[in-house]
Parts: sequence; C-alpha cells; structure tokens
Amino acid sequence: MKVGLLTGGGDCPGLNAVIRAVVQQVTNAGGECVGLIEGWRGLVKGIARPLHVRETDEIIGIGGTILGSSRTNPFKNAENDVAAVQHNFRELGLDALVAIGGDDTLGVAYRLHDEFGLPMVGVPKTIDNDLSVTDFTFGFDTAVNIVVDSVEKLRTTTASHRRIMVVETMGRHAGWIACFSGIAVGADYIMVPEVPIDIDHCCDVLQKRLNDGKNYAIVVVSEGAKMPNRKEVLTSQETDAFGHVRLGGIGQSVAEIVEERLKRETRSVILGHLQRGGPPSAYDRVLATRLGLAAGELVLKKRFGTMVALSGTKIIETTLKAGVAASKTLDLTYYSEASAFFK
Ligand code: F6P
Repeated sequence: MKVGLLTGGGDCPGLNAVIRAVVQQVTNAGGECVGLIEGWRGLVKGIARPLHVRETDEIIGIGGTILGSSRTNPFKNAENDVAAVQHNFRELGLDALVAIGGDDTLGVAYRLHDEFGLPMVGVPKTIDNDLSVTDFTFGFDTAVNIVVDSVEKLRTTTASHRRIMVVETMGRHAGWIACFSGIAVGADYIMVPEVPIDIDHCCDVLQKRLNDGKNYAIVVVSEGAKMPNRKEVLTSQETDAFGHVRLGGIGQSVAEIVEERLKRETRSVILGHLQRGGPPSAYDRVLATRLGLAAGELVLKKRFGTMVALSGTKIIETTLKAGVAASKTLDLTYYSEASAFFK
C-alpha cells in the first residue's frame, strides 16, 4: 500500500510526531509512504518525497512540519486544481492519503472523498483547539505553555514599571488559548471572542486590584475578541484561499481605553506566531503520536472518509463530515470559572 501524507493550514507543534507515527504504522504493515510538499499545493503540483522510518524517527520533538505547509485550496480554482489533484493522485500511485490539518484542510479532504471518491483519512490539528468532535487538538497545549512562559516574562517588567500589560493571543474566533493561558497565569482579566468585551467591567476590576495594593495588572485578550456591536480588529483586509481575514490589534485598542480611563500606563503585546513555534510539549507529542498511529490503522483497514479524534482519554474514529460540520468555540464553563476572579 502506498500512502501519501500532507500537512495543511497554519503549522503547529506536533505535526512531525504525527508524520513519524503514520510512517511507522504503515511501514510495520509492509506499506510505503510519501509526503506531499506544502499541503494541498503538493498534490495540485504533484510534488512529493519518499518518507522512511529512518528519516522520520527523530522528528518527534521538532516543531513545524518537515513537509511544509500552505493554505492552498484546490476548490478555489476547482476546475483545474481538482482535476490536477485526481491526476497526481493516480500518477503518484497513491492508495490513500492522510490529511493532517484544521477545518480547512480537512474540509478539502472531506469533499475530495465525498464528491470524487478519493481515499482520505484525516488527523485534526490546530493550536486554536476549535475543531468539533475532538476534545483537544495537539498544538494547543504547546501554545498555551508558550503564552504562560511569555506572560511570566512580561510580568516582571510590567510589575517593575507599575504598568498594565495587555497580552494578545491567537485563537482566531475561539477563545481557548486566551482562556486557558489566562487562567494559568492568574490574569487580572480575560477577553474571548465568545463574550463581547465589557470594557467598563474590565476597568472596574483592574481599578479594584490597584486600589487593593497590586501595582500592576495583566489582561489576556484573544485576537478574535470584539467590542459590543463591533467587528474584529484586523491587520489586513486581505483574505486567504479559504476566505479567512487576518486578525490582530484588539489588544492595542483595549490598552488605549484602559490607559485613558485608569490614568495608568498601559502597553500591549501581540504574541503572534511565537505561539506556533518551537518543540511540542510532552502532552502534544503523546497525543500526536496516538492520533498518527490510529490514522495509520484506519488507512490499513481502508476506512476512508474518516478521521481520528480524542474523546476523553480515548482515540476514536469519526467521520470527516462530522469533523468539519461546525467549529468548536470555547466551552463557556471555563470562562465562568475564570470569571470568579474578576470581581
Ligand atoms: O489557525 C491557527 C492560527 O495560528 C490562528 O490562531 C491565527 O489567527 C492564524 O492561524 C494565523 O495565520 P497565518 O499564519 O496565516 O498568519
């Protein structure tokens, strides 16, 4: 059996651990693997490289993806690109493809299987943790730990200068990263896309902290958080091949209002792509390995149109259709637990 692998969309720590596990699983069964270069672009252009156990054995701890990634969407220029995908699938002699990605990449895998009968198995990934049917995605834990690390560094300089620091995290339209990292650093306030920003409440809480004798404050805000009746703050009006805008800047807007109201110097920092970089956490390495082994098994059993997911502590099989049906916003139980500290 010849199995293709690709990684699409924003990279995230743990992708290489999945590649390693799929290659091992398929090789154990006597099959062979090839990696498509730069996500769906690799299949559209027919660019692939062999993947052997020897060269993937040591990549478990390396961030990013050895295959490269892109936000290429073959359905954007469907007439030519989907035909090219089908052609290259045959040319490369593939019997199956493991697509490792978020909702966009898996959405393409779903359509290629559903509409064109290509044998696909999906593996969910994203630092945003916004995929339904899987409790957690690998990459998320690493991203949260990077935010926590960064805030612990920001804390000492913020406290030394008696400032307020607004820390903006990634997460797109889901507040998972902001909420989990905010809880983990004991943030003085957290803002997430799922709850319209209540700037009066935020300022009241911060003022109370300062009145109580704390001489600095940390606010964690998700890049997708919005002021009531306002749209997200964008760094660019451009959209990618899947129609996504580029978020960024809400932290600075919040900082300006807070500084004005509290008459206390307030700065903002966008953590940006740092959150996607570097080695995966131990948790993400284990999760990615388990998902990769399970995906390899689904391929060997020819269970196409499926994807693997985490349910509780178990790795389960579900369908690509279910996996891309809806995105998973923050479970507000976490936010209301965090809010116990914003009084
Ligand atoms: O989906 C992952 C993510 O990192 C989001 O949190 C963020 O909004 C986006 O990707 C950034 O994408 P890019 O790397 O294309 O700027």
